[in-house]
Amino acid sequence: MKKIPYTIFGFDHCEMYVGNAKQASHYYQSTMGFNLVAYQGLETGNRETVSYVLNQGLINLVLTSPLVKNTEIGKHIDRHGDGMKAISFLVDDATIAWDESIKRGAQSEFEPKTLEDENGSIIMSAIRTFGDTVHSFIERKKYNGIFLPGFKDIDKSKKIQNTDLVHIDHVVGNQPSGEMKTVCKFYENVFGWHRFWSVDDKDINTKYSSLRSIVMANNNEKIKIPINEPADGLKISQIQEFIDYYDDSGVQHLALSTKNIIKTVEKMRENGVDFLPTPKSYYEKLEKRIGTIDEDIAELSRLGILVDKDENGYMLQIFTKPLQDRPTLFFEIIQRKGSNSFGKGNFKALFESIEREQQKRGNL
Ligand code: FE2
Repeated sequence: MKKIPYTIFGFDHCEMYVGNAKQASHYYQSTMGFNLVAYQGLETGNRETVSYVLNQGLINLVLTSPLVKNTEIGKHIDRHGDGMKAISFLVDDATIAWDESIKRGAQSEFEPKTLEDENGSIIMSAIRTFGDTVHSFIERKKYNGIFLPGFKDIDKSKKIQNTDLVHIDHVVGNQPSGEMKTVCKFYENVFGWHRFWSVDDKDINTKYSSLRSIVMANNNEKIKIPINEPADGLKISQIQEFIDYYDDSGVQHLALSTKNIIKTVEKMRENGVDFLPTPKSYYEKLEKRIGTIDEDIAELSRLGILVDKDENGYMLQIFTKPLQDRPTLFFEIIQRKGSNSFGKGNFKALFESIEREQQKRGNL
């Protein structure tokens, strides 16, 4: 296929549909150190929806709730619970990006449209991807405002303790059994992306469950979207548990990078973020598996941080528990020290930890 005629510079933002955006925004500010930077709702003339924009480093997280009954957002929340609706890409041309995607077989969510306010104009468009999830294209070269036209700056009096998060490393999509390859094909055909990394059920399995995963990346590899599906095991895979509660495919986790995972996790734990526990036995074998690293293993053990390596270096990672009552979306905190891997060496320990939580929920 011919070359993709537009450029994706990186993630622009991720938008979640939630039941109570006001309270959710408080959670992400007070526990994860995001700053509330923009708002739209009744006070800005929006009669049907309210959105809070949270920022830290290069990460923009938008939380949106309906203000009235019978909205698409309300239906989304009823079916899926709080969840990730849109993964938005910053592009050089949102019209060409949409045209090309449609030509290559994508379904439109909305056609290119121009939004304007006193700070300039942006062009945005969107296409559908797995489940009810969408990818929007944002072109903002003629815009100087804080987020998008129609959003009001928030004058902050509240001091938020930053947790040193830097950017979105990857966003993961969970698919029902047997659909992973079809979704990866979609990313190949519609976007011209390539397979960056993959694991199969022989690599990742516990006594109870296993998964397959293929990481899709765009040309400049600024965007990485791992696509998972459950594989057969003795009991219900954690991917299947997600599918059951989300009632569809959807975004399983957002991985946020930091330059100092020990500091970040320390602060988040103090602030009340719940992370998946890692057994002490994991750290007994760590040095043998990974070799010498800069971090103190006792510190990593105290905080529950996992480590993996590949031929280029190592990486440190940890996963939160689900961020809402349904066992669906969670976040990962990641620090890369040379490694581009997705933590294959940790999947077993991670799965066993998730399964202990699944057991508590009566879903294993
Ligand atoms: Fe991840």
